[in-house]
Amino acid sequence: MSKGIFITGTDTGVGKTVIAGALAIALKDRGYSVGVMKPVETGCKKSGKRLIPSDAIFLKKASRSRDSLDLINPYRFKTPLAPAVASELEGVRIDISRILKAYHTLNKKHDIVIVEGAGGILVPVYKDYLFIDLIRDLTIPVVVVARPGLGTINHTLLTIRCAQEYGIPVIGFILNYSKDLKPDPSENTNPLVIKRLSNVPLIGIFPFIRNLKNNPERLKVFDTKNFLNGILPFCS
Ligand SMILES: Nc1ncnc2c1ncn2[C@@H]1O[C@H](COP(=O)(O)OP(=O)(O)OP(=O)(O)O)[C@@H](O)[C@H]1O
Ligand SMILES: [Mg+2]
Repeated sequence: MSKGIFITGTDTGVGKTVIAGALAIALKDRGYSVGVMKPVETGCKKSGKRLIPSDAIFLKKASRSRDSLDLINPYRFKTPLAPAVASELEGVRIDISRILKAYHTLNKKHDIVIVEGAGGILVPVYKDYLFIDLIRDLTIPVVVVARPGLGTINHTLLTIRCAQEYGIPVIGFILNYSKDLKPDPSENTNPLVIKRLSNVPLIGIFPFIRNLKNNPERLKVFDTKNFLNGILPFCS
């Protein structure tokens, strides 16, 4: 049976798309068929009458998936707010069963499907239904992407414990340098503290990649071989 992982984050902008893309590339390069999904994308720019879901496009490029953008990204909105708010403002009903169906279609076609959330796990997808509800309904484990530096113990533990309380398995967490900062001194101690307090391992520390822009090929400059040890058991 093919499997999936959900990439969540401690916040918006922490690097979920970048990490999901890097994992997709690494798995693809090892011969896996990789499906990707961004169930709902908000803040999409307009090109003529069409909305451009840039995360979904980045993930499609990274995974070299031939799946249609509508399967990868069933819902997209112009308003740069949480999906539940953007959809309400734009008068669109998000049908969760459509998202689950799209996931299961991708799941049948690929060895693994990498799903990216929006913001963090308690962000509402539609009305009172949160991303954590979606993860539970997809029955897949999560990877938590977090910032390095001060504050990350709290944010990462909040995310991990919340997932664990919902009965969602947490594969591990990744500290990602989304900005060109000097290595943070907390890098050496935070992973151990988080691991001790949550029993969840550090998958790895992902560096800042220069000139990344919208080109996932640039992610290949960093070898994620070590990251895959934790992820591979979840691939068929
Ligand atoms: N390791 C990295 N190296 C270089 N740039 C990065 C890195 N990680 C993230 N970025 C940049 O930081 C910004 C935010 O990253 P990203 O879009 O992956 O965050 P996100 O968590 O997916 O955000 P959202 O909640 O909007 O989906 C992007 O411009 C991205 O290119
Ligand atoms: Mg993203």
